[in-house]
Amino acid sequence: MIVSPSVLSLDYSDTRAQIEALNHSGAQWMHFDVMDGHFVPNLTFGPDILKAFSKISPLYKDVHIMVSDPDFISDIFLKAGADLITFHEEAVKDETKIKAIAKKIHAAGRKAGLSIKPGTPVETLRPYLNDFDLFLIMSVEPGFGGQKFMPSSLEKISTLKKWLKEAGSNALVEVDGGVNGETGKLCAEAGADVLVAGSYVFKHDIKEAVQSLCQLQ
Ligand code: DX5
Ligand code: ZN
Repeated sequence: MIVSPSVLSLDYSDTRAQIEALNHSGAQWMHFDVMDGHFVPNLTFGPDILKAFSKISPLYKDVHIMVSDPDFISDIFLKAGADLITFHEEAVKDETKIKAIAKKIHAAGRKAGLSIKPGTPVETLRPYLNDFDLFLIMSVEPGFGGQKFMPSSLEKISTLKKWLKEAGSNALVEVDGGVNGETGKLCAEAGADVLVAGSYVFKHDIKEAVQSLCQLQ
């Protein structure tokens, strides 16, 4: 299992130590939640924080942009060093535009992800199975860490995995929101390839929490 701790839940009064602990936790990725206060009712960090984290962490930068203008914001985070940029279908809706953003991210030599909120049907992703490297199933309403996992996400994961197999796509399925030891196990059983966890990791022993998710198959 790929584990991508969300730095939204980092203790920012002890940033360097927390990132150091993350570097030695066994996590392969770092999940970086960008929020614009418009697409979601919260505001988080900009490109300079990602640049700074890249200086002190070799982890793969999994950047999740919850913004109303992902075409504009993705340019900013491509320049800031994102390895993977995932944006929301609900912010664009137009199939041609969605595929154009993926193409632009790929042209920059990075990976592209597409995400849907809990209220968006998984069928929405059907036209994109071979255009993206990753699909992010939100198991909470985007905007805040520490929310409760929504079990309705599990069927979306298994359905999407089935479609990807049928389409011959190697895209990964990532799950984000309320993931802990128990819900992470359910996600793994449903076929998830990447687990995002914020509060479960940073509100407990970082290494222990990450290891408990890494060993899930
Ligand atoms: C929510 C973010 C998630 C969040 C996960 O909008 O996209 O990545 O940080 O936090 P937990 O794991 O605490 O639900
Ligand atoms: Zn996220």
